Parts: sequence; structure tokens; C-alpha cells
Amino acid sequence: MSILITGGAGYIGSHTCVEMLNAGKEIVVMDNFYNSKPEALRRVKELTGKDFKFYECDLLDTEGLIRIFKENKIEGVIHFAGLKAVGESVQVPLKYYNNNITGTITLCQVMEDFGCKKMVFSSSATVYGNAAVLPVTEEAPKGELTNPYGRTKSMIEEILKDLYISDNSWSVALLRYFNPIGAHESGRIGEDPNDIPNNICPYISQVAAGKLEILPVYGNDYDTPDGTGVRDYIHVVDLAKGHLKALDYIMKTTGVEAFNLGTGKGNSVLELIAAYEKACGKKIPYKIVGRRPGDIAAIYADPSKAEQVLGWTAELSLEKMCEDAWRWQSNNPNGYDS
Ligand code: WQD
Repeated sequence: MSILITGGAGYIGSHTCVEMLNAGKEIVVMDNFYNSKPEALRRVKELTGKDFKFYECDLLDTEGLIRIFKENKIEGVIHFAGLKAVGESVQVPLKYYNNNITGTITLCQVMEDFGCKKMVFSSSATVYGNAAVLPVTEEAPKGELTNPYGRTKSMIEEILKDLYISDNSWSVALLRYFNPIGAHESGRIGEDPNDIPNNICPYISQVAAGKLEILPVYGNDYDTPDGTGVRDYIHVVDLAKGHLKALDYIMKTTGVEAFNLGTGKGNSVLELIAAYEKACGKKIPYKIVGRRPGDIAAIYADPSKAEQVLGWTAELSLEKMCEDAWRWQSNNPNGYDS
């Protein structure tokens, strides 16, 4: 029996493949390489010494999905595949709704046809919008979302809940990621954005490497300790390990449960810059600019449900996240094209 990992060549997907293989799990990986590269999977095999079946397949390719389930005994799915750029989603909403929502519906229909009703879903803390109470718990109401990307995550959560209501044999874990950063400590796999990074950590990494000149800091007039945005940064390896715990959990139960995967600690942009400077031994030039539309002042997790129910807790520090991010960047100046 195998676990299908959709989007397994991506940033979080590839790190999860490493942890799954190291834990002795049988995996089957699918990816369409829209926002990832085959080299990532080659390096997953190199790091673990393990092999696995791979299918180049798009979520919207029903026949391709059917082939995967026909050729393999899939007992569960870790579903990463999806478009994830907040800004892009505002420009091309139909592309995001079609790919992320229609694609997930297609996947669930094929899963149902093959009697596979176990899913770990890659959701996001973005579903909370501007959370009124911090730290945020899974019981917090969903917030006012500011972009189609975030809306697809929230809508898919509701679709999966309705699926369970219609058929109580489904078991789904909705993993709400806070801000994943860092890389595997080998420096062989990491975040490889297609062009100018939207997210802060890869942006800082490229400034440290001299690929970008200066970091724009989007506002220092928020109601936070130093005025810059506060986020719950979590090491991508801690996040990957959370998927294994969630998989073990859904195998033993039915229902739909949301889990916050965060450290429970908020750090500001300026604190992240300071941690990164310590990790790389260089000054990170930055300039304070206007706020980025859609940004919230602060969000960080209450991770106690994942600790109590999944037996998972984030262990790696902000400094370790920055050290590992820098090792990936400095060893791979052009990502997987290096
Ligand atoms: C973090 C902080 C910015 C860039 C998004 C998505 C979320 C998930 C993670 C996909 C904020 C500041 C950023 C820069 C800056 N993505 N910043 N200069 O917006 O918290 O979350 O990415 O799953 O769903 O919403 O992450 O890294 O873009 O921003 O000052 O060049 O860094 O204002 O305070 P965000 P981020």
C-alpha cells in the first residue's frame, strides 16, 4: 500500500517526501512541474537512498489520475498540488479557482471511485484572515480573505467537510501552515521560486547572495512591537514531520479536523532580518516602504491541538531556519538550475 503525494516536487512536498521515505513509508509522487523541477525529486532520492514511482500528471487530468490509482494501491493522499502565489491569484483568479478547486474535486472523485478516503490537505493560516485574537486557535472564525489564493484554500476546506458529511468514511486533516521557511540541513533541497520571490525569506536569501540589491520592508507602522509585520515562521522540516503525524492520525480515524502547524511564536520582519544576518554573517540592506495591500499586522498560532492530538510540535529555532535557508541559497545560487 502506498501514499500518493500530489505536488511532491514542490518546496514543502519535496521535504515531506524525504521525511516519508526516511520513515520507511511507500510513496507515489505526482507533479506537473508548473512550479517545481525534476531535479528536486532526483535529490530526494539522493538524500534518502530510496526510490519511488513518479507520474508527471496534472490535477485536472482525470485519466492520468485514474492510471495512478489503477497501477498502485493508494491508501491515502497528501495533497500539496496547487497554485500558491497570492499576488498572481489576484491577476488570474479563474486559473486559481480552476486549478486548485476543480483539481481537488477531480482528485477526490477519483479517490472515491477507488475507495481511497484518507487525505492530508495542504491548507494555510491565511484562512483566518486578520485574526481578532492571538494566538489563533482552530476554533477561530474564518476571516475576511483578501485574495483568490486564500479563498481557494478556505473553499476546499468547506468542500472536504461537506464530503465527510455526505460519506462518514472519509478522514481528512486540514493542515493550516503558518509561514514555512528554511531548507533541509543538507543544503540539497529548498525553496526555488520561479522569479522575484513574493515571500520574505527567499527574498532575503537572494539579497544576502547579491542576486537582489535591497529588501523592501512593507511598512513599519503596524501595531506591533517594532512596527513591522509579525508572523509565525516554521522550519519546513518541522512542517514536513507534521504531515507524517497527520497521516498516522487519519489512518486511525474518520472525520475532518483542522490543525495549526506553527511554532506558537511570532517574529517581526526586523527580527527575521537580524536572525538571517547572524546566520549568513552579512548585513541585509533594507528600506522601509509602504504597506503591501492585503497584509495583516500580526498572526501566530496556538499549536496546542496538533501537540495534543497529533503528538507533533515544532522543534527548530528561527536561527536554524535562517542557517538552513542560507546554506541552500549559497550552495544553489540558481536554485535547482545551479
Ligand atoms: C511575511 C512578512 C510582509 C516580503 C504568504 C501567504 C501564505 C503563505 C506564506 C502560501 C509580512 C513582509 C514580505 C518582502 C516584506 N503562502 N515582507 N518584504 O504574506 O505572511 O504569507 O506566504 O501558502 O498563504 O499569505 O508571507 O513572506 O510574503 O510576508 O516586508 O519582500 O514579511 O509584509 O509582514 P505572508 P510573506
